[in-house]
Amino acid sequence: MKVLVTGGAGYIGSHTLVALLVGGHEVAVIDNFSNSSPEALRRVEKISSTSFPVYEIDARNESATLKVFEEFKPEAVIHFAGSKAVGESVEKPLMYYRNNIDSTISVCEAAIKTGVSRFIFSSTASAYGNTSRVPTPEDTPLDPQSPYARTKVMCEQILEDAAAVNEQLSVTLLRYFNPIGAHPSGLIGEDPKDIPNNLLPFVSQVAIGSLKELQVYGDDYDTPDGTGIRDYIHVSDLAEGHVAALTYGAKSGTAVYNLGTGAGSSVLEIVEAFTKASGREINHKIVGRRAGDVAVSCADPSKAEKELRWKASRTIDEACVDAWRWQSQNPEGYRGQ
Ligand code: WQD
Repeated sequence: MKVLVTGGAGYIGSHTLVALLVGGHEVAVIDNFSNSSPEALRRVEKISSTSFPVYEIDARNESATLKVFEEFKPEAVIHFAGSKAVGESVEKPLMYYRNNIDSTISVCEAAIKTGVSRFIFSSTASAYGNTSRVPTPEDTPLDPQSPYARTKVMCEQILEDAAAVNEQLSVTLLRYFNPIGAHPSGLIGEDPKDIPNNLLPFVSQVAIGSLKELQVYGDDYDTPDGTGIRDYIHVSDLAEGHVAALTYGAKSGTAVYNLGTGAGSSVLEIVEAFTKASGREINHKIVGRRAGDVAVSCADPSKAEKELRWKASRTIDEACVDAWRWQSQNPEGYRGQ
């Protein structure tokens, strides 16, 4: 299938490109490189021994986006492009609404105008907010707690309404839990622009010596070791979930799937796994809870396993080994290129 990937140079986007190319799909990329590097795409081409068109444009630019659709003529689009830092979204809400919603409408309009049949949207488990339903199924009431999460819920609703009145367009919403790890080649991986907000890249930078100490946000949660529990899913499993959604996702209307493992790991368990993977001490200190954090977040992935014939298979240890290979081979991320 011909698949246009917006935000394809990003962490999940680049890994999804590899999975699409391995799966025999033809791809093209839209990215403005505001939070990613063209080097990531060069690495994807190296891994897959395939080159593909790259359009350096802002997905909010409707005319430029439509031109790409008219030129590449995709049958499907996977829309990753957008801002995704929870903390930043609290400080700059209007930028998040402008960026995430405008880009989704612009890409969806171009898809409808050019007869695209499949629209896959990068959504988030943080749409569920502080739910008590854990493991969390897709029909859990949405309760987004940040402007970032609210933009994702609004985009889901916009796409659902668009699919309802455009017969040829089907929409598959994928709600990610906590992506971690890297492609086993060590050529692509997570490359945060500033100090990482997320646990894994922070731990990885402590291991390589770029950061001094991990602050563990609270050990007084109602969990076995007191630290927060999350459903960490290997980014390659997540990428393969997108390929499965292309094949088995919604053929009409809208469908929503949680992409997670269904198993949870605590902060201290992640620190232990990364210590084992890297052979490095991970300096860490218990501090107070981070505002907005929940004790436990974990997917019920049974609907995706059944309907998308997809199941996460890689372990936390594999993810830490892969993440460490990426980090140790690229101490400066893509900036070193
Ligand atoms: C994981 C655990 C922290 C950093 C966020 C977004 C979500 C999604 C994934 C986009 C928690 C603890 C973390 C640190 C710590 N992003 N932690 N010290 O908060 O589950 O989800 O990223 O879709 O939208 O909300 O991920 O990696 O920030 O935190 O102790 O320096 O690690 O308290 O228990 P989170 P995270």
